[in-house]
Amino acid sequence: MDVEKDKLTAVYPGTFDPLTNGHVSLVKRGLDIFDEIVVAVALHSPKKPLFSLQERVDMVQQAFDPFPQVTGEPFEGLLIDYVRTKKAKAILRGMRAVADFEYEFQMALMNRRLDRNIQTIFLMTDYKWLYISSTLIKDVARLGGDITGLVPQNVQLELLKKCRDEV
Ligand code: PNS
Repeated sequence: MDVEKDKLTAVYPGTFDPLTNGHVSLVKRGLDIFDEIVVAVALHSPKKPLFSLQERVDMVQQAFDPFPQVTGEPFEGLLIDYVRTKKAKAILRGMRAVADFEYEFQMALMNRRLDRNIQTIFLMTDYKWLYISSTLIKDVARLGGDITGLVPQNVQLELLKKCRDEV
């Protein structure tokens, strides 16, 4: 008798203020390994977001609408508690060159201390997205620079709206 295998789920957490094409690329590559990916948008983040939690989640959900294996959800509190509620085995994170290493290493070790049964899996960011970050993109957009191709189209529209509202 065939037994349906449990689905392998990963949680991809972040502030996503806003989602970039670097994030999108990572999730698509993650789907080569995992059956399902939950893009988990954090309420509690050391950064002070430009977009509200709801706006960040909406942008993620819209960008991944064509991918039924990807969901976008908000979470608050400790990441590891949220990962447990999702019954996920792994936290997925991207790593850009050396600058990210120390921060990522600290978070991975802390999360491992909190729950040794959940593994953090890193994918190296594709070289095309090595230089971009949400922070840099917001800065360029605020100052009127062209961010076409760096973020999904729906995010670009929301960013332009936000920058107009800020003026
Ligand atoms: O990509 P980011 O924006 O740097 O993501 C940071 C994030 C959201 C993954 C991290 O701040 C987080 O996990 N926040 C939730 C609260 C928590 O669990 N903090 C302890 C992490 S070891």
